[in-house]
Amino acid sequence: MELATVEALDLAGADMDVPLVGGGTARAVNFDFAASSPALAAVDDAVRAFLPWYSSVHRGAGYKSMVSTAAYEQARVDVARFVGARDDDVVVFTRNTTDSLNVLSAALPDDCRVVTFLGEHHADLLPWRRHEVQHLPIPPDPTELAGVLDDALSALGPGPALFAVTAVSNVTGECWPVAELAAVARRHGARVVVDAAQLAPHGPVELAAWEVDWVALSGHKMYAPYGVGALVGRRDWLEQREPFLAGGGAVAFVTDDDVLWADAPERQEAGSPNVVGAVALGAACQALADHGMDRVLAHERHLDRRMRAGLETVPGLRRHHVWGDDHPRIAVATFTLPGMHHSLVAAILSAEYGIAVRDGCFCAHPLMVRLMDVDPADVPRISAEVAAGNHANVPGATRASAGLTTTDDDVDRLVDALGRIALDGPTWTYDQDPVTGNWSPCPDDRPLPDLGCLPPT
Ligand SMILES: Cc1ncc(COP(=O)(O)O)c(C=O)c1O
Repeated sequence: MELATVEALDLAGADMDVPLVGGGTARAVNFDFAASSPALAAVDDAVRAFLPWYSSVHRGAGYKSMVSTAAYEQARVDVARFVGARDDDVVVFTRNTTDSLNVLSAALPDDCRVVTFLGEHHADLLPWRRHEVQHLPIPPDPTELAGVLDDALSALGPGPALFAVTAVSNVTGECWPVAELAAVARRHGARVVVDAAQLAPHGPVELAAWEVDWVALSGHKMYAPYGVGALVGRRDWLEQREPFLAGGGAVAFVTDDDVLWADAPERQEAGSPNVVGAVALGAACQALADHGMDRVLAHERHLDRRMRAGLETVPGLRRHHVWGDDHPRIAVATFTLPGMHHSLVAAILSAEYGIAVRDGCFCAHPLMVRLMDVDPADVPRISAEVAAGNHANVPGATRASAGLTTTDDDVDRLVDALGRIALDGPTWTYDQDPVTGNWSPCPDDRPLPDLGCLPPT
């Protein structure tokens, strides 16, 4: 099944050739959507149409300021609709998911306790460490998640609490039962924030239907790579403290020694906002919603099945997941090949086959330690080695992640390339950087394009 792509869902840079080592080119195959995705044609069109009108927002008196303000505020409406927000939810524009979760972390009541599972991306782990935080182990059976959360929240006792959970793991592509876990949290009076960075580009986000309090997402993962993200949800906690960033635009009035903060969203958007980014994100939301997120998800599921079947044929390839191959997921495959460093596999795919993937820990060290069967007793040693500048023993894997325009042919090319690598190894020479542990072609004779923004060759 190929996605019935309408033009608005075309991506910038699709059908480009990239150079291979030793000469020659190949059609670029992108399996790195989970990290960052190219711009949708609809986003590119919206930005081009808007740029001549770009001007300051909110306080500008000029006509173009009026247009820009209207576009910026309309983007909030489009984002709210896309995530299925309640009427009284607020949309705060941020830089990305990391920023969104830090904004929320800074807004939590002083005595708020935070609970997360240890499968989260660092963006949904580290901001909470400014508070009393409890990290729950991920049970081997997903049906036990609700019970583990229930026990943890029961033990917390009265007082404000936040449960932070991802909708989809960026490491494994597995979906988390967000609505079920939110129901458990609600029974205990805990608030819920959902990290929707990976779900938003691949399936429906349903803030109100899940009955969660906030969702966070990144534009650059949902085909609007213009440096914008969003935090959407309840207004109350976002209006009770000093904001994460203090500055112009976030205030109603400032005296010599006091500040009257503005209401949300302005209170959480100090400084000149990223208006072009907001317009881009709004356009992405509209284009994806027009196409239908259920269709997007159906395409993902089809690609996942094809990837699974194909990767099973690659000699020795081991896929890594938390709950098993049959757990609901999006089209992400994280794997290792026996005896081959994850970064070498990624380097060969790029240099010899024109296939872009990602490798490493995917900003989820605690989860990777578990998935890669690292002995917990070895963790302090690895930590000490990293502190001393040696990254060689940090666990890692290679990740292939599909997106809107991934085709069956792309999947087959990935599977075919991995089969060759598994059987024959590289056909070029590579070396490893002793500091980063990363592998790269040596020599790397692929020329950079003449873009004007690159250093002269
Ligand atoms: C699940 C998840 N959460 C949060 C993030 C952080 O996103 P950003 O880097 O856009 O802030 C990522 C990025 O990969 C992610 O995959």
